[in-house]
Amino acid sequence: MTKRRKLAAGNWKMNGLGADLDQIARLDAAHPAPGCEVLICPPATLLERMSAAARGTAIMTGAQDCHPAASGAHTGDLSVAMIADAGASHVIVGHSERRADHGETSADVRAKAEAVMAGGLVALICIGETLDEREAGRTLEVIGTQLRDSTPDGAGADTLVVAYEPVWAIGTGRIPTLEQIAEVHGFIRAELGARFGGETGAGVRILYGGSVKPGNAAEIFGVDNVDGALVGGASLKAEDFAPIIAALQES
Ligand code: 13P
Repeated sequence: MTKRRKLAAGNWKMNGLGADLDQIARLDAAHPAPGCEVLICPPATLLERMSAAARGTAIMTGAQDCHPAASGAHTGDLSVAMIADAGASHVIVGHSERRADHGETSADVRAKAEAVMAGGLVALICIGETLDEREAGRTLEVIGTQLRDSTPDGAGADTLVVAYEPVWAIGTGRIPTLEQIAEVHGFIRAELGARFGGETGAGVRILYGGSVKPGNAAEIFGVDNVDGALVGGASLKAEDFAPIIAALQES
């Protein structure tokens, strides 16, 4: 059986100033040698400083978005090479907030993910259904389409991480039942196997995201095919994120 290394990822979204960088030292003090991968994706303004603060620790850094092009006239955007130059190893692409706020399509997400992989970084691709889609019984259809259209053909277990983030669970304190998480993660696992073949399909990590907190992390991490979490609000403070990492290590 393929052993997948677990991943606790924090998405700081549009939160964090220089004064918040001390969270890295606090997290490192709580978990100097974590039994899982630990990643924080701060806003772009903090990426280089956070990467410097994390040097010598086990904590990795990532960006929250990128532009698919290598360079050019794209005001306000960042290329993958710039992100790598700031010390990051991962890029989140296709977060539902970017799909909703910036009209990003799965084709856009795929182009970004291709650029991330071509640049030697790991693409963390987010997919997830809205509440209307779930209530209409369309969850697996939506997830299947987003997964197919957002992931590049050449993806491998070392270059792709998939995050299942039901839109209605993000920032709401509401999570799916463990059966619903198991159903979607099992479906994504099967789709990855059909698309990329057995070894890659079994090796790609699938994270759950949406209202993961210290109080619910252990039960979520006990679900089959949950290889970690993409955490928003509870990743901002080490006192919240450290127990989630602990729960993942113990799962
Ligand atoms: P919350 O953990 O704040 O619900 O956010 C989840 C998320 O969107 C992470 O990318």
